[in-house]
Amino acid sequence: MNDPLLVTYASKYGATQEVAEAIAMALSERGLNVNLLPVRQVRSLGEYGPVVLGAPLYIGRWPGEVGQFLARFQPELARRQVAVFTLGPTQAGDKDWQGARDQLDQELARYPWLKPVKVELLGGKYDPARLRFPDSLLAKLPASPLYQLPPSDQRDWTAIRAWADDVYAGLAT
Ligand SMILES: Cc1cc2nc3c(=O)[nH]c(=O)nc-3n(C[C@H](O)[C@H](O)[C@H](O)COP(=O)(O)O)c2cc1C
Repeated sequence: MNDPLLVTYASKYGATQEVAEAIAMALSERGLNVNLLPVRQVRSLGEYGPVVLGAPLYIGRWPGEVGQFLARFQPELARRQVAVFTLGPTQAGDKDWQGARDQLDQELARYPWLKPVKVELLGGKYDPARLRFPDSLLAKLPASPLYQLPPSDQRDWTAIRAWADDVYAGLAT
């Protein structure tokens, strides 16, 4: 556990970034040497040991830069311990959570070589007032699942810290 750990993420409106920051902080408080970088800024994995990857769901998919990151570093990631967290549900209902769980499973199935040591689905944050085009347009379409959704923040910081502790415990053993 001497190699630095990389926490890397994609985030469109900042919610996943804030979760990645909290996870990075929790792991460094445990004494790990942690670096935090957006996936787009990762140039090499050479110096790192374990990797924690965070990505939100958008229309059932991870952002394209996550797929690019996974494709680019496939051989290195396949040799490392990788933990994955995904932000999705912005409402509390079981239906939203089950739908997001299915979407996450489908995304992971695209990368059969990736064998994460931990996978976690976390609640997301939604603020229609901050959406940029084309998301803002999507939210205005009556047929869209985002239509008239109220702002909400389903991130559970206690659950996020608990997951970071779980990742730490998994790496330690
Ligand atoms: C246009 C749009 C599409 C979304 N699609 C999904 C989805 O298919 N499944 C899901 O669980 N969450 C979906 N969400 C919720 C996001 O995953 C959630 O808002 C997340 O916290 C965004 O993280 P970010 O701010 O780091 O980009 C969507 C949100 C937006 C704005």
